[in-house]
Amino acid sequence: MTEPTPPPPRIYRARILTPVPAPGAAVPPLRFEEDGALVVGADGRILSVEPYARAAHPIALDLHPHVLTPGFADVHLHFPQTRVIGRATGPLLDWLDRTVFPEEQRFSDEAYAREVGAELMTRMLSAGTTCSGLYASSSPVATRVAFEVAERAGVLAQIGLVLMDRGAPDGLLAPRDRALADLAALLADCHRPSGDLRLAITPRFALSCSPELLRAAGAFAGEHALLVQTHLSENEVECEATLAAFPGTADYLGVYEACGLSADRSLFAHAIHLTDSEWDRIAAAKARIAHCPDSNFFLGSGRMRLREALRRGVRVGLGSDVAAGRTFDMRRIAASAYDTALAERDPVTPEELFSLATWCGADVLGFGDRTGALTPGRRADFLALDVPAYARTCEEVLAHVLFASDATPVRRTYVAGQIPR
Ligand code: GUN
Ligand code: ZN
Repeated sequence: MTEPTPPPPRIYRARILTPVPAPGAAVPPLRFEEDGALVVGADGRILSVEPYARAAHPIALDLHPHVLTPGFADVHLHFPQTRVIGRATGPLLDWLDRTVFPEEQRFSDEAYAREVGAELMTRMLSAGTTCSGLYASSSPVATRVAFEVAERAGVLAQIGLVLMDRGAPDGLLAPRDRALADLAALLADCHRPSGDLRLAITPRFALSCSPELLRAAGAFAGEHALLVQTHLSENEVECEATLAAFPGTADYLGVYEACGLSADRSLFAHAIHLTDSEWDRIAAAKARIAHCPDSNFFLGSGRMRLREALRRGVRVGLGSDVAAGRTFDMRRIAASAYDTALAERDPVTPEELFSLATWCGADVLGFGDRTGALTPGRRADFLALDVPAYARTCEEVLAHVLFASDATPVRRTYVAGQIPR
C-alpha cells in the first residue's frame, strides 16, 4: 500500500522581521528579510525562513505589503479583569478594593466566566498575542474555563488559579487545604508538563496570602516543577504593608524567599521598588521579571528599572497587566517600556524591545524553545502586520511595527500555522 502524500508546505512571501535566539543572548538580535519566504509544514511548524529568491518552493501566497513577525508574548495579565480596563480608581490597594475584587467575584459563575473568556481570547488574538501568562481567578471553575478557551484558540499559556486566603472579600478567599485540593485537580486535568497549556502557581501577592499558604504554594511548585507567578514590590504603600504583615522580614523579596517562592521558575511582576540587594538576589536565583510599564503608569506605581535587570542578566518579558494596563496591544506596552526607560535616563533600543515583546516573553514563560521567533522547528505562531510598502529597511519597519500600531494593524494572527476559529 502506498503512503498518502503529505500536504505540501505553505509558503508565505513578505517582509519578515524576527529575533534569532542564540545561546547566551538574553535579548537576541533581529533578522530582517526585505523579500522573504516563510515556509510552514503541514504540522504547523516552521520549515525555513529564507530570501524569496532562494526559496526552494517558488509557489507562494504573496502577503506583500504585509510584514510577518512572531506572535507577541504577554507575560502577565488577569483574565477576570478583561471588562474593567480603564477604571481609574487607583492607586493599587484602592483599585483592588473598588474595582478588581468586586468584578473577580463574578467569576465563580461559569457562564459569566465563559462569556468573558471568549472575549479575552478574541482581544488577545486581534492584538497578535499568541503566548501568555494568565492569572485566572481564585475560582477553580473560572480557571478551568481559562484552560478551555486557551485550548480552543490553540495558544500557548501558563494559567494560574489565584491563591488568596486573606485580605479580600470572603467570596474570593480559599483556605490553604481547599486551594491545594483545587491545585491537585487542575494539575491532573489541565496541566501538561511540556504541553501548550501549563498550570502556574499563582499566589496573588504577599498581602493576600498567609505565610502557611505561601509555603504550601512554594512546596507545590517545587514538587511539580511549575512556574510561579506573583506580584512583587509594585506600590510603596503595598511594600510597607507587606513588611508589617510579615514582621522580621528585611525586604519584600525576603517574604517570597522564606517560602520557597523565589527560584529560577519564578516570574515576578512589577519589581519597581527594589533595593540593589533584591536585584542581586533575583539575578542569583535566576528568577524572571514581568515588566508592566503601562500598568505602572496607570496606577501611579512608579517606574521599573529595566536596565537594572538586563545588566544583571535577569530574563525579562513584557506584560500588559490588564486591567491595570489599558490595552491588550503588546506594541503599546513596548512603547510604554521605551518611555519608561527614557525617563529613567537608561534607554532601551527598538531592537531590544521587539525581542522583549516576542521571544524573551515566550522564554520567561518557559516556551522559548517552541515559539517567539520565526526559525525552523518552532511553531508557526506569526502575524501579518499591515506596514506601508515604503518602509523598506529593518529600522524603518521596526519603527512602524513598534511605535505606530494604530497605523499598522494586525491583519492575520496564525497559531501553529492556522487562523484560529
Ligand atoms: N497586586 C495584587 N493583585 C494585583 C492585580 O490584580 N493587579 C495588579 N496590577 N497588582 C496586583
Ligand atoms: Zn498583575
